[in-house]
Amino acid sequence: MFEKLRYITSGESHGRALVCTIDGIPSDLPVSETDIGKDLARRQKGHGRGGRMKIETDSAQILSGVRHGMTLGSPIALLIENRDWANWEEIMNPDTKYARRAAKLEKGAPVTRPRPGHADLSGALKYGHRDLRNVLERSSARETAARVAVGAVARKFLSEFGIHVGSYVTEIGGIKSAVDGTNVSSLFKTAETSSVRCADKKAEQKIINKIDKAMKEGDTLGGVFEVIVTGVPAGLGSYSQWDRRLNAKLAYSLMSIQAIKGVEVGLGFGVSKTPGSGVMDEIYYSKSAPRSAPAAGGFYRKTNNAGGIEGGVSNGMPIVVRAAMKPIPTLRSPLSSVDINTKKKFKAAYERSDVCAVPAASVIGEAVTAIAIADSFLDKFGGDSMEEIKRNYKGYLKQLERF
Ligand SMILES: Cc1cc2nc3c(=O)[nH]c(=O)nc-3n(C[C@H](O)[C@H](O)[C@H](O)COP(=O)(O)O)c2cc1C
Repeated sequence: MFEKLRYITSGESHGRALVCTIDGIPSDLPVSETDIGKDLARRQKGHGRGGRMKIETDSAQILSGVRHGMTLGSPIALLIENRDWANWEEIMNPDTKYARRAAKLEKGAPVTRPRPGHADLSGALKYGHRDLRNVLERSSARETAARVAVGAVARKFLSEFGIHVGSYVTEIGGIKSAVDGTNVSSLFKTAETSSVRCADKKAEQKIINKIDKAMKEGDTLGGVFEVIVTGVPAGLGSYSQWDRRLNAKLAYSLMSIQAIKGVEVGLGFGVSKTPGSGVMDEIYYSKSAPRSAPAAGGFYRKTNNAGGIEGGVSNGMPIVVRAAMKPIPTLRSPLSSVDINTKKKFKAAYERSDVCAVPAASVIGEAVTAIAIADSFLDKFGGDSMEEIKRNYKGYLKQLERF
């Protein structure tokens, strides 16, 4: 599914560090640790986050693939240290000599009580782990910091072609924001200043109150965010093979984020309730390219129910995707579960946890979307250097003009 821009992440939540390797970024793209750090900081914000966010202030170190600020065309390796490592060094150390010391510590005791809504039990059954820490350390959403770092590089690549990826929260705990989506850049600016990434000030306050209430009651909240990509040319993705369809790649990417349970493209589930006349985006033409569809040979739509993708191919309109996040599974009011050793019922113990992480998920959604769009862009205009890709892209734009 991702052939041109491949990446892999590793690292445990309380391990030494998160690491990722990105392959397929061309040479001569300016990339800096500061660029990546900005997105990492955005992922850590949000009203309703737990104590961990106060411990971690993430920054990425570029270990390879970049020299004097420019990519080399070789794989890029990034490292994000876990600041909490100091508190977990004995428990999580790869070296066997720490095992005995860890066993003497209270928090080194095997975790045997699976939390509902987490990978704890299914992961233990699958890998045969009798200490659930061996599952939860990797299934944790801490891993998404690595993906946000990869996304920052993809975003940098896309920005060279005037493609911008932004997001905002549309709903938390059933409170919906009413926003006018016509001015996307002001929408993003307002969302960026909001502690819940909400662009509707009235809804913002209600959402904050609802999160505070959930916090007091020991409960948690989910929600929905929307990612919009502007400046995407017509022609990314393909109808010719199932795994090249751009909507499929986006859905896969968003569904791969921890706690995401639903994805919509454009009108999404709304298509099931609307007659065909209200769903299809009629086609118009103007010699001068409209701002809404800058690279579609003068063809554009007055509506964007398709979310910028038809037949698995971008049509030049903004790409619009939404994702629904379930409430955080760790609750202060405990849920029933069964100890894997004793097989006896218990009420899950509370651990420091987020109450709502939808604003953070929205930033992660941007990252995985940027990666999917960058992969499709490289698939269409691929080359080894930025110069080559820019030449290919310019040639294609000329071809669209002549169409
Ligand atoms: C940004 C983000 C932060 C999260 N924070 C927490 C948390 O603090 N506590 C928790 O129990 N789950 C948290 N989750 C949710 C779990 O990671 C997720 O529900 C769990 O891994 C099970 O995966 P699944 O929901 O995809 O089945 C978070 C998810 C995301 C995306």
